[in-house]
Amino acid sequence: MSLACKSCGSMLTEPRIIQAVPSDFLELKRFLGSFTGAGFEKHELAHMFLLRDSHNGQKIVGAAELFPCSDGSFYLCRVKVARHLRRQGIGQYLFEYAIGHAQKLGARDVYVVTRFRETAPAVRIVRKLGAIEISQAILQKNVPRHMVDRYSSLQNRFWRFPL
Ligand SMILES: CC(C)(COP(=O)(O)OP(=O)(O)OC[C@H]1O[C@@H](n2cnc3c(N)ncnc32)[C@H](O)[C@@H]1OP(=O)(O)O)[C@@H](O)C(=O)NCCC(=O)NCCS
Repeated sequence: MSLACKSCGSMLTEPRIIQAVPSDFLELKRFLGSFTGAGFEKHELAHMFLLRDSHNGQKIVGAAELFPCSDGSFYLCRVKVARHLRRQGIGQYLFEYAIGHAQKLGARDVYVVTRFRETAPAVRIVRKLGAIEISQAILQKNVPRHMVDRYSSLQNRFWRFPL
C-alpha cells in the first residue's frame, strides 16, 4: 500500500500501524482534536493504535482506539485520518486492522458510532465491512456509558460487527 499527500505529493509507503506509548499523549490529543478527542484520557493510550508518516518527521497521520468492554466485546472509536491523506484507503485500513486485532483477542463483537448521514465516510466504511446497525440502547448496554453518552440518535448511528 502506498499513499500520496494531496498537498505536496510526497509518498507514504507501507504504512505501519503501531501501539501508542505514554509519550504520544499530547501529540495524539492535538491530532484527535476537539470532536474525535473529546474526553480523551491517558489511560486510553493502552488501547490506541497510531500511524506515523515516515517521510514527514514521523508525525501522527492516523489513529484508532479499540476499547475493551466488560462482556468481551470492544468499542472501536477515535478513528481519524489526517485531512491531507484522506480518501486513499487509510480509514478503511484502520477499521480492518482494529477489527482483525479484536478477532485475534477473541472478541465476540466490535461496536462503532458514526455520524448519521448515509454519505459520511465512516458510514460507508462500516457498511462495506459488514457492520449491522443497532439501537443506541443496545450500544449503551454493552459499552461504558461515559464513552457513548455524548452521542444522540438524531446525529449518530450505532453499529455492531459480529465476529
Ligand atoms: C472517517 C475517516 C477516518 C475516513 O478516512 P479515509 O482515510 O478518508 O477513508 P478511506 O479512504 O478508507 O475511505 C473509505 C470509504 O469512505 C468513503 N469516503 C471517504 N471519504 C469520503 C468523502 N469525503 N465523501 C464521501 N465518501 C467518502 C468512500 O466510500 C471510501 O471508499 P471508496 O474510496 O472505495 O469509495 C476520515 O474521514 C476522518 O478522519 N474523519 C474525521 C473523524 C471521524 O469522523 N471518524 C469516524 C469515527 S467512527
